[in-house]
Amino acid sequence: MKFFIDTANLDQIKEAQDLGVLDGVTTNPSLMAKEGITGKDNIFKHYNRICELVDGDVSAEVIATDFEGMIKEGEELAELHEQIVVKIPMIKEGVKALKYFSDRGIRTNCTLVFSAGQALLAAKAGATYVSPFIGRLDDISTDGLNLIAEIRLIYDNYEFDTQILAASVRHTMHVLECAKIGADVMTGPLSSIEGLLKHPLTDIGLEKFLADYKKGNQ
Ligand code: G3P
Repeated sequence: MKFFIDTANLDQIKEAQDLGVLDGVTTNPSLMAKEGITGKDNIFKHYNRICELVDGDVSAEVIATDFEGMIKEGEELAELHEQIVVKIPMIKEGVKALKYFSDRGIRTNCTLVFSAGQALLAAKAGATYVSPFIGRLDDISTDGLNLIAEIRLIYDNYEFDTQILAASVRHTMHVLECAKIGADVMTGPLSSIEGLLKHPLTDIGLEKFLADYKKGNQ
């Protein structure tokens, strides 16, 4: 299972990278705005900085919603750095753009996916990654994890290469449940990754080991 961090915050990306378990980064226009990164030039520079910080894939989202605009922007993004994956929204023009990029060997991440039907379409169009937003489904009393399971079943039935990138992950249990279901990737905040390492018995056990060592080595 690949771990991506879902942020445009360079400190958090560096912290996750330093942990040694980071496989990539996802961003979106809201996350860029949250860091105060505005204007095309600054946004492109920021993508380059992120690519320099991490070894893996970095998803960069197009703003255009028409086919020609998405192609132009996606090609510019893909040329920025070899680690860039072009993020395309799940709309009709987006499906055409996914196919266009797939035919030309440009990697894509189909975003804003909320149903198994949308995920099936993204795979048919040749998306590299599909991003079902599990947290936002949970927010409206719909089981986000169930969507991951449905997509896993469909992709396995037909051996689609598209990787399931569980997105809108909010906490550590989402990560764990996605791992059980077999999501290929999860993207979430740093806290969702760090939560995996916490256990009170580990802390108690370590404290006892160190205390016993101290007693015997005074
Ligand atoms: O990966 C998609 C993500 O950025 C959306 O997360 O928490 O805004 O639903 P959230």
